Amino acid sequence: MQDKTSLSENKILNIGGVAVNILAEKYGTPLFVFDKKIIDGTCKTYKSALEKYYGNGIISYASKAFSAKGIYKIMHENGLGCDVVSGGELYTALKANFPAENIIFHGNNKTQNELEFAIESGVGNIVVDSFSEAEDINTICNQKSKKVNVSIRINPGIEAHTHHFVQTATISSKFGFSISNGDAEKIVKHVKQFKNLNLIGLHCHIGSQIFEIKSFLIAVDKMLEFYKQLKDSYGYEFPTLNLGGGFGINYTELDPEITEKNYEEFIKLISERVIQKTSQLELQKPYLILEPGRSIVGRAGTTLYTIGSVKEIENVKNYIAVDGGMFENPRYALYQAKYKVIAPLKLNEKATKKYTIAGKCCESGDVIAEDVMLPEMNKGEMLAVLCTGAYNYSMASNYNRNLIPPVVIVENGKSEYMVKPQTYEDLIRNDV
Ligand code: LLP
Repeated sequence: MQDKTSLSENKILNIGGVAVNILAEKYGTPLFVFDKKIIDGTCKTYKSALEKYYGNGIISYASKAFSAKGIYKIMHENGLGCDVVSGGELYTALKANFPAENIIFHGNNKTQNELEFAIESGVGNIVVDSFSEAEDINTICNQKSKKVNVSIRINPGIEAHTHHFVQTATISSKFGFSISNGDAEKIVKHVKQFKNLNLIGLHCHIGSQIFEIKSFLIAVDKMLEFYKQLKDSYGYEFPTLNLGGGFGINYTELDPEITEKNYEEFIKLISERVIQKTSQLELQKPYLILEPGRSIVGRAGTTLYTIGSVKEIENVKNYIAVDGGMFENPRYALYQAKYKVIAPLKLNEKATKKYTIAGKCCESGDVIAEDVMLPEMNKGEMLAVLCTGAYNYSMASNYNRNLIPPVVIVENGKSEYMVKPQTYEDLIRNDV
């Protein structure tokens, strides 16, 4: 949730030293606003914790959480790597001069074009997610006389406590290969036969918006026990281990309280477990990769809206309709995700009325939040939805031909565009 210190004296929400009404006047609404200090702070916490408690490893920002040229630049400045899941994310990262060797390319169905693009660009690591993909990568490498580092996505079989749409490491998942049914062992042997593929390690990602560190520690154990099995059976040893992302953030008071201190603690516990387990199993201590996305950018983002109408259906429901909606935040419609909604210019007023915040799309399910307590609100006033930095802009669409809002980044009282506003011309650019 938004830090209380960012609430200014006159009870107006401040982001990065700028009052939100000033931002709204300058850039209009709906508007995504990022607080750079929060992003930098979280990057530093993760990076220094990994250095302190583990040593050799890297924090690789999962850019599906928020992808735009500016964010890759920030990640690179903070010494992070990044991972991408499509040609589009890869293109964006490269256009921001992100070093290709620090990019990991994920995805359960990378296209031929995407693989060619990645290999041509020299990405540091491609995470193989099917038997045929390994063959395709080898063929492309042959044609281009290249070799690539690859890893393999493995399902350690953990049911992390999260929404089932974002839970990914179970046997029935469309991602990866399960250890339990022998598929993981088969794909490792398969990848090993290709001379252009340098298998540097295995990867797992157990899910997203997870608060229990226990799930990650079980993942460490299962992955390293599998490393041991492969070493004993085939003499394979891998220099890297990638444990994916998934650390949660607290969107509302319904989520456990979590701060940067907790992220440091997570890294500490995971590091200790990897060190202890590798020594117990007599394995080499791998280069450790972690891929947080949501926890780096989620809390840093706020969406600003203007209220277009208030509709009170007596004894039933009070609707506030804002100038955004599921086209820029589809997460309630998709996952019933909860957000904290505030009246950012009325922070000193008591929340006395229950509202449902609806968007402007032609669809009843176009809701941002339900049953939110706010002061009495009127047309023309502002609303702010907190913690929208992850999986909001990146999941936005032009549904109903609404324009995807611009993104502004704020630091020390200065704001600038990270993504400029779309125009109607953009909407018809490719129409024939
Ligand atoms: N690594 C891999 C391979 C992943 O698939 C993901 C997320 C991450 C890292 C980053 O996970 P994070 O630290 O952000 O939890 N659209 C959903 C979230 C989907 C996450 C997919 N994978 C949402 O809005 O909640």
